[in-house]
Amino acid sequence: MIGLFEVDGATCVKCGACVRDCAFRALKMEDGAPRMASPDRCMKCQHCLAVCPTGAVTFDGKRAADSVPVAGLPLPSLDAVENWLRTRRSMRHFAAEDVDRAVLSRILSALGNAPTGCNARSLTFTCFPTRASMDGFRRDFISVLERHRDGTKLLPRWLAAPAIRLRRGEDDMFFRGASGMLVVSSDETAPGVATPLEDVTIACAHFEMLANAAGIATCWCGFLKMVQQEVPELLEQTIGLRRTTPFYAMLFGRPAVRYARGIQRDSYARIDFRG
Ligand SMILES: Cc1cc2nc3c(=O)[nH]c(=O)nc-3n(C[C@H](O)[C@H](O)[C@H](O)COP(=O)(O)O)c2cc1C
Repeated sequence: MIGLFEVDGATCVKCGACVRDCAFRALKMEDGAPRMASPDRCMKCQHCLAVCPTGAVTFDGKRAADSVPVAGLPLPSLDAVENWLRTRRSMRHFAAEDVDRAVLSRILSALGNAPTGCNARSLTFTCFPTRASMDGFRRDFISVLERHRDGTKLLPRWLAAPAIRLRRGEDDMFFRGASGMLVVSSDETAPGVATPLEDVTIACAHFEMLANAAGIATCWCGFLKMVQQEVPELLEQTIGLRRTTPFYAMLFGRPAVRYARGIQRDSYARIDFRG
C-alpha cells in the first residue's frame, strides 16, 4: 500500500527542505531522512512535493514528475496585475450571448486552486453558464419571492418593486441582465473547514481575475446576498443550499460596455506602515 508521504531513497538528498516547509510539523527527519511522523497534522497542502529539489517525494500517490514545473512558466508581471486592478470594472450591461463553455470550464477548473483556510477545499461552484439557465434561475427566484410569507410581513419595497420589474421584463436590478452566474459556497459542516466565508470570497475574487483575463466581464452580486437575508429559503429552494451555508455570487457574461480609461479614486485604502 502506498503511504501518504513516500521518499525515493535513491534521489533524496536529505536536505530537509520538505520537513522545514511542513506548516504543522507533520514531517520529521529521522536517521537523516524525512518521514511522515504525524499524519493527523498533515493538511495535504503538497508543499513537501513541491519544494523537493530532486523530485524524490511522492505525496498521496502523486509523483513529482506529474507536477507542473515552475521554472519557465509564464506568470503575470507586477505591471500586468497592477494594470488589471486599476482598470477592472463591475459590468452592469452584458451582451446577449453566452460565454464559451470550454473557456468557462477551464476557468472553473483553475479556480479550484484558490487557497482555502487549512487547505479545507470544501467549495462548490454552482454555475448557471448560459442565458437559458440564467433565465430559469430568474424565474425560480421570482416564484420563491412570490411564495414567500414571513408571518404577515410583506417584502420590503427595495425588494418588492424591482422584483415586479424583473417579472415584467422591465429591468433586472438584481442580476444586471447577466448571461451567467457563479454561486460559490463552502460546506460549513465539512470536517476541517475553518474559514468558509473567507474561502468563498477569495474564490470569487480569483474568479473575477480569471474571467476578466479571458474577456469575460463580471459583477459581484451583493443583491443576491441581501435578498437571501430577507428570504432565507431562497437558495434552499432554487439551488438546494442550506440556509447556514456561506456563499457569494458573481454575475458574468460578455461585456456590452467598453471602458476607455481607468478610475481616478479620491480615496484609496489607508496605508499604514509600522516600520
Ligand atoms: C461585495 C460586493 C458586492 C457588490 N454587489 C453589487 C451588486 O449587487 N450589484 C451591482 O451592480 N454592483 C455590485 N458591486 C459592485 C460595486 O458597486 C463596485 O465594485 C464599486 O461601485 C466600484 O466600481 P468598480 O467595481 O467598477 O470599480 C459589488 C461589489 C462588491 C465588492
